[in-house]
Amino acid sequence: MVRWGIVGCGQIAQRFVQGLAHVDEAMPAAVWSRRPDASAAFAAACGARAAPSFEALLAAPVDAVYVATLHDSHAHYAIAALRAGKAVLCEKPAATSAAELRTVLATARHTGGLFMEAMKPPFYPLYRKLRAHLDSDPIGRIVYVRAGGADVLTDSGHPTLRPEAAGGALLAIGIYEAFLALDWLGPATAVQTLGRIGPSGVDTFASINSAHARGIAQLHCGIDCNSTGEALLAGTAGNVTIHARWWNPTHATVRYADGRTVALEAPFTGGGLNYETGHFCDLLREGRTESPVMPHALSLGMIEMLDEARAALGVRVPFEA
Ligand SMILES: NC(=O)c1ccc[n+]([C@@H]2O[C@H](COP(=O)([O-])OP(=O)(O)OC[C@H]3O[C@@H](n4cnc5c(N)ncnc54)[C@H](OP(=O)(O)O)[C@@H]3O)[C@@H](O)[C@H]2O)c1
Repeated sequence: MVRWGIVGCGQIAQRFVQGLAHVDEAMPAAVWSRRPDASAAFAAACGARAAPSFEALLAAPVDAVYVATLHDSHAHYAIAALRAGKAVLCEKPAATSAAELRTVLATARHTGGLFMEAMKPPFYPLYRKLRAHLDSDPIGRIVYVRAGGADVLTDSGHPTLRPEAAGGALLAIGIYEAFLALDWLGPATAVQTLGRIGPSGVDTFASINSAHARGIAQLHCGIDCNSTGEALLAGTAGNVTIHARWWNPTHATVRYADGRTVALEAPFTGGGLNYETGHFCDLLREGRTESPVMPHALSLGMIEMLDEARAALGVRVPFEA
């Protein structure tokens, strides 16, 4: 049984607990947030204990910690949990900059603990089905990725609009697009970015052209307009559309240059976070320190792309060195 400690009791923590109910041999054991009333209500709803402090959560009998706070505090809680000997699954982005992430990864190496960024798409049934399909019936070499996610954020108090919470479209959404490009095209060799900064000072839209070891990507992310949320993978003998919303994928269409079309479908259960969580629990039981699906180098590559994109737009996190 993997006993989970959950840090933060917001929306994603609730979805995590929903998913945990679909993972074998795993349970919510302790929860903590800064507001005792919120911790108590969340703990009661999921059958866990409310820890009175973060230190108490780390001292509790938990095997793994899920960091579900806002961007600005992910690295802080991940490092403390690793030092306490816990395995850490950390919400995206795992850190606000590559420098910060390197500190987290160095701590993971030093402590020998398991660390994984909670980047959900590659664990979804559709994504895995697509990979298996392309392995057996390829579309040639994949040399171009086009993907984006943008929705108008209407809640003016949302943390994504707050610079001090390390908000902005790039860190909130662009991290997914960076993942997709790196996952199919390999390490980035150049990143060019145009974008918009909103009244609160965070990036509200970014358009990225990136060159990679195996091809070119065109990516966008935004919180001030609505785009389609589709992804296109183009190969030398066909292409794939991962239909909207590609980061919670359920449908893909594979079109071959010889005229064939294959429709792939795979619904998900449990809210979707259960797949990454199940994978993480397996790694923990096997004594692994890193995921082969979501390795540390991939997380580093993602945040390095976003560092470059933020620099191009002149967006800095207030506490950045
Ligand atoms: N994987 C996904 O599909 C997905 C989807 C949405 C969001 N996310 C990610 O999940 C994270 C949380 O998003 P959310 O939508 O759940 O936000 P949320 O609903 O605002 O919840 C944030 C939680 O973190 C706590 N928190 C914030 N800053 C903290 C700090 N410095 N120390 C301790 N607790 C802190 C908040 O506590 P208070 O009540 O005390 O402020 C609240 O419990 C973000 O990183 C976001 O990017 C992932």
